[in-house]
Amino acid sequence: MPDDDQSGRLQQSWQRNAEAWTRVVREARIESRRLATDRAILEALREREPARVLDVGCGEGWLCRALAAQRIDALGVDGSAALVEQARAAGGRFEHLSYAELQARPRRFGVFAAIVCNFALLDAQADRLLGALAEALEPGGALLIQTLHPWSLAGEGYRDGWREERFAAFAGAFTPMPWYFRTLESWFALLVGAGLRLESVREPVHPQTGQPLSLLLVAVRAS
Ligand SMILES: C[S@@+](CC[C@H](N)C(=O)[O-])C[C@H]1O[C@@H](n2cnc3c(N)ncnc32)[C@H](O)[C@@H]1O
Repeated sequence: MPDDDQSGRLQQSWQRNAEAWTRVVREARIESRRLATDRAILEALREREPARVLDVGCGEGWLCRALAAQRIDALGVDGSAALVEQARAAGGRFEHLSYAELQARPRRFGVFAAIVCNFALLDAQADRLLGALAEALEPGGALLIQTLHPWSLAGEGYRDGWREERFAAFAGAFTPMPWYFRTLESWFALLVGAGLRLESVREPVHPQTGQPLSLLLVAVRAS
């Protein structure tokens, strides 16, 4: 299936899955988030002491609210109107905006000390979006990307390509979502192509099994 069709299905799935996703996140039903990845992204952000944060693909908005609780000015944007509605209802600043709209005018909300994509870069075409996000960083600002660890699906063939998330753990509650798997090499090339320089890599692990639960990339504008 062509990338555009998969991308359309991906975005539709977040409209359909908004209610189920909101419940799953707010009831802390995803073990990896509970054990490590929520804390990892919050710590990586907090360490930078950013005055303003843009949360791209904010979903139901938990991260913006966690930042606001620490008196960090956070704005969330998301392409799913239904998720933005959920986010607003729980409190905080959220805008309904597709990535295409954001990349058309990267500085529509000004510039940010940190921009975060927490499990929200799921599309095959991410190069223009990352280029736009680089433009929306203030000098010294950083882009933080948390994503599935490439190791976790390496058994299915270690190459870029579309995969299907069936949310099997939540029996029948979700519409399947296509998403684009990237190797480490591919993530690195994407950042460099967008004019960013990789500053650090973190790999939060499961506290008991030691398996990596995510890949967390911190990048700054290449000067
Ligand atoms: C797995 S959820 C993550 C939500 C949130 N960042 C979190 O940590 O809970 C992925 C989010 O990315 C958003 N998203 C994916 N592709 C998008 C696109 N092309 N334009 C706008 N939003 C998109 C979805 O609407 C969804 O809210």
